[in-house]
Amino acid sequence: MIFSKKRLSQKVIPPEIPTLPNHVAIIMDGNGRWAKKRHLPRLAGHRAGTGNIRRIIELFVDYKIGYLTLFAFSTENWKRPSAEVKGLMRLLDNVIGKEVKKLHEKQVKIVHLGNPEGIPDALRSRIEKAVELTKNNAKMTLNIAFNYGGRAEIIDAVRRIVSDGIAADNIDEALLSSYMYTADMPDPDLLIRTGGEMRISNFLVWQSVYSEYYTTPVLWPDFSKEEIDKALKAYAKRKRRYGGLDKEK
Ligand code: IPE
Ligand code: IPE
Ligand code: MG
Repeated sequence: MIFSKKRLSQKVIPPEIPTLPNHVAIIMDGNGRWAKKRHLPRLAGHRAGTGNIRRIIELFVDYKIGYLTLFAFSTENWKRPSAEVKGLMRLLDNVIGKEVKKLHEKQVKIVHLGNPEGIPDALRSRIEKAVELTKNNAKMTLNIAFNYGGRAEIIDAVRRIVSDGIAADNIDEALLSSYMYTADMPDPDLLIRTGGEMRISNFLVWQSVYSEYYTTPVLWPDFSKEEIDKALKAYAKRKRRYGGLDKEK
């Protein structure tokens, strides 16, 4: 039988993963340590990490995951040396330039989570164009969290609620959710952190209250399909109770 090249390259979901999350969020950490282990400059680690982003997005499209959120640059990452910050900006610029067409063809909708202010003009306009071009795509939503901070997002939401003149009595969880960068999106089901740290580092503070947390010591540039499958298998075994009790069998 002859298979088309496209079909052959598609990734298959292993049978041990019966339940897939609808929204996966990833703290892509460990690029610097990946480089250090190889006696390379930190930016070489970021370059390798950026290469991995491409592979991971393709995998999630093939798995038909609804939402993928990638933490690429936090509001605190400005504290790093300016050469590293500039290098990270350049890498994101390159990756958007190279990948947007392909992502559009795969009907991926790109959304920016974060504060556009502070991002250099050229990069900001590249992000805006990518968001505009892909806004009607419906296959998978790819959230790029860039210049993103969970607390900054909440402050932003509160400011807009006040400036919209919303009465105190009308403020509830649904309203606050609708003022987040992730308005209209489901909360993440699975939150993965690579690189071994066991903290949230200001990521999706509002949205992740009931996300299943998965950490692995594997550094982001090494986070392969096999590692994703491990995380998805672990997720499939979790019992989500949301404060209630397990369903009677
Ligand atoms: C994650 O890798 C990428 C960003 C934060 C931009 P790091 O650069 O934090 O890598 P480590 O934690 O130093 O290994
Ligand atoms: C979190 O990683 C931010 C991103 C992956 C973009 P950091 O490396 O900045 O987090 P800390 O400093 O270890 O908490
Ligand atoms: Mg780090």
